Amino acid sequence: MKILLASSEVYPFSKTGGLADMVGSLGVALVNAGQEARIVTPLYRGLRDKFPRMTRVNWKFDLPMGERHVQADLWELDLDSGLKIYFVDQPDYFDRAGIYQEGQFSYADNAERFIFFSKCVVNLARYLAWRPDIVHLHDWQVGLVPALIQHQRDSAGWGKPPPTCLTIHNLAYQGTFPAAVYALTNLPKLFFHTEGAEYFGMLNCLKAGIAFADVITTVSPRYAREITTEELGCGLDGVLRRRRAHLVGILNGVDYQEWNPAKDPHLPAPFSLSKLAGKKKNKAALQTFVALPVAENIPLYGTISRLAEQKGVDIQLAALAEMLNADIQFILLGSGSAEYELGYRELARRFPGKIAVQFGYNESLAHQIEAGCDFFLMPSRFEPCGLNQMYSLRYGTIPIVRATGGLDDSVIDYGEQTDKANGIKFYEYTSRALAKAIRKSLAIYHQPELIRQYRRNAMRADFSWGKTVDEYLEAYRTVMQ
Ligand code: ADP
Ligand code: GLC
Repeated sequence: MKILLASSEVYPFSKTGGLADMVGSLGVALVNAGQEARIVTPLYRGLRDKFPRMTRVNWKFDLPMGERHVQADLWELDLDSGLKIYFVDQPDYFDRAGIYQEGQFSYADNAERFIFFSKCVVNLARYLAWRPDIVHLHDWQVGLVPALIQHQRDSAGWGKPPPTCLTIHNLAYQGTFPAAVYALTNLPKLFFHTEGAEYFGMLNCLKAGIAFADVITTVSPRYAREITTEELGCGLDGVLRRRRAHLVGILNGVDYQEWNPAKDPHLPAPFSLSKLAGKKKNKAALQTFVALPVAENIPLYGTISRLAEQKGVDIQLAALAEMLNADIQFILLGSGSAEYELGYRELARRFPGKIAVQFGYNESLAHQIEAGCDFFLMPSRFEPCGLNQMYSLRYGTIPIVRATGGLDDSVIDYGEQTDKANGIKFYEYTSRALAKAIRKSLAIYHQPELIRQYRRNAMRADFSWGKTVDEYLEAYRTVMQ
């Protein structure tokens, strides 16, 4: 099967969150499963220098953007895995310091940038000699592609276009813009209605994808159910309920080549289930690196996160303010809202020697935190899938999670299956419930046999793509004749 994936982020080329990891690793997983997968993504600043094997494709985009025409080039890179990546080269849009924003400010022309990218995806799907059997779109940035394809089928002579699959990674980000922006799509008005691309008078790119994609997936079974409810439907639960028969939840897989404590180049000491001594060395190295007292027997908690409302920062700050009175240490790696950063800075001032905060994006430190900590905190308000809890499990770092979305689907609590427990879940979205879960973790930590059992269960949990890639193939097949 020929599968063209399209995403605004792909690891290792660009990343602001789990979307990049998911798309990069799904591409490889599809190739490993014997499929022909290719990914198309924007050529962001610095990528050609970082990946000098990239070559220019004999291809010119010249596409209408409202009244204007915009041109772009195309580059490609063949990865050792067999996956081919296409890069859309449009420097005015993509040769910038950030992917979506600089500092706290989103680019004012994000709609235009990603409408153009979506048109490039359609152009490739239509005219590449390599004809995709399915086009797999990820998030709002390419949400308009199904409508653009339908339009070319109905009015621009595209005989038999490939079906489309849209994956929703996060319903909270919909790509909503003033209606005037719709002109840039060059689509006729007939796509802009309450059952289509329009949402309360605005253009809504994700809604357009939900309305017009042939099949819709999201990144965990529980989140697939949650987004059809008013509580977690972010205003799109109605349209999702209408499309329920074509909506499926598939838990993300993990790339265990990238996230393998036995062979992780970011770690000072490798470790595995049978050689756990290395984990202690990682803990000591991490404590040293972030200037916390090096203490083997003080439980070390970690969080790596975008500092956004979704991630439960408010209850985490309040629960930590209470729990840091106990003999524990905590390390945060995060970036995002200035207000939340301030909250953590204040906490660090109140509890010197107990908490370390690192702001910014740091891939290497993320691996070291997964390896060096005893527990990982993820108290999300909602979580479509979440990858860090799965990375934590593999690194023997017990996740403490709120039972929502993919967190609920991937972690097993003692209350669910005593002998298989690999993490701690709490249910209510309150700092009290989180603090109680942290207290539970302390009790486990101080019973050596019990914590060993949790670690064993955690490190044995398997979220490799091998298991879930078939579910994507199945979803594609349902819409291919
Ligand atoms: P989301 O996509 O909602 O942010 P996920 O758990 O799916 O959440 O994925 C987050 C990914 O981003 C993980 O790979 C995590 O390690 C990484 N990440 C988040 N914040 C940082 C940071 N400040 N530095 C390095 N990696 C980060
Ligand atoms: C989104 C979600 C996260 C998910 C990731 C990859 O960023 O917030 O839960 O793991 O996409 O699918």
